[in-house]
Amino acid sequence: MDKLVIEGGFPLYGEISISGAKNAALPLMAATLLSSGTHTLHNVPDLRDTRTMNKLLESFGVMRKESDNGTLRLNADNIKNLEASYDLVKTMRASVLVLGPLLARFKKARVSLPGGCAIGARPINFHLQALKQMGATLTLTDGYVEAEVTDRLIGTTVYFDIPSVTGTENILMAASLAKGTTVIKNAAREPEIENLIQMLKSMGAKIEGVGTDKLTIHGVDQLQAAENTIIPDRIEAGTYLIAVGATGGNITLNNCNPSHLPSLLDKLRVAGLEIEEGDNYIKAASNGSIRNIDIKTLPYPGFPTDLQAQIMALMTLTNGLSVIHETIFENRFMHVAELVRMGADIKVDGRSAIVKGRGELNGTRVMATDLRASASLVVAALAAKGVTHISRIYHLERGYDNLAAKLTNLGAKIQQMKE
Ligand code: EPU
Repeated sequence: MDKLVIEGGFPLYGEISISGAKNAALPLMAATLLSSGTHTLHNVPDLRDTRTMNKLLESFGVMRKESDNGTLRLNADNIKNLEASYDLVKTMRASVLVLGPLLARFKKARVSLPGGCAIGARPINFHLQALKQMGATLTLTDGYVEAEVTDRLIGTTVYFDIPSVTGTENILMAASLAKGTTVIKNAAREPEIENLIQMLKSMGAKIEGVGTDKLTIHGVDQLQAAENTIIPDRIEAGTYLIAVGATGGNITLNNCNPSHLPSLLDKLRVAGLEIEEGDNYIKAASNGSIRNIDIKTLPYPGFPTDLQAQIMALMTLTNGLSVIHETIFENRFMHVAELVRMGADIKVDGRSAIVKGRGELNGTRVMATDLRASASLVVAALAAKGVTHISRIYHLERGYDNLAAKLTNLGAKIQQMKE
């Protein structure tokens, strides 16, 4: 297993390019199951999770052609298997995104339940309840959801108690091929959902309400293959912006969309960063002196839970008190104990973390249990005094394309080596 060794204290300077968004690539790849013909997807990031999705699609019989520049061609003409196995689903919860498309097009699917997760229970009951309302018969056998529909899924009105991201995506895909009209109320509004809707529309789907929490989908009999581009990864961009706050310096992120990061950019400005937003770039400068701010994670356009761990690392470097409230997941503070090992003063009280900034962190050996927790340790290590060894970096490889190379380009002292 590899680890990252980071010598902290070097400001970040220079330009890097942001990759395609993991959380957009995964649903768009799953959506290729909805039709025959060859789909073309551009700007697909090279990540452990996109490779897992490729393996999963391959296990159904999807043919794939990849090129070095992030273009992926997928063809689901000859589907021979409708089962998503536990071995693949357990390594990536987003595998559940194949349930809606398989059921809608092939009337049948068998998908392993994902099981527990390091950041919370993360059930999929909203996905299942909505498919049931659309006429699917669902049974739970041996840890698998077996879904079946006699003719076609039937359009209906679905209300989500919480605006679930993958729940909205699964039902959008299923409803596109259903008979009649489906309305999703309290739908998630993340930019990744807009990207999926754009793809479904290019395939011939009829969807109204894009960008709102009420989506209306008029089902069609058939969809066609199309060409689409994955949006830039707002969480990757956000992680580098937070990193320059931690180290000081001046960076430019190219190929990104600042309008997808409204809450973070505002918060970072209050924390003292200078930020310039262009059409497809963000420039950020910091003298390394950061003001304490409070954060509450919320569904989009609120502050993303996927940047909570990273902003907490930044707050440990202030000289004030910061309250970070996590409202999306019940157990997303696994990075706290590791940041404390680096000298941070953080107390967790239920869903709130109280960070008493001490102005500095110290390098040591740390490891994390999930993707964004690992990213927060990278931010912390870049700013810490001395050397930090971060183990279990396979978590980072799930969601950050070329992290070490990009940080090296910005002047960080970072090396990937065997444990
Ligand atoms: N929830 C339920 N039942 C459901 C679905 C969700 O109770 O059937 C709850 C969850 O337990 C959670 C809340 O609703 O408390 C929101 O969860 P959501 O369904 O929106 O999360 P997700 O779709 O499983 C996606 C991202 C996550 C990101 C969350 C929140 C993908 C592939 N994953 O997960 O990304 O944190 O939305 O924005 O899009 C990451 O990239 O590191 C990551 C975890």
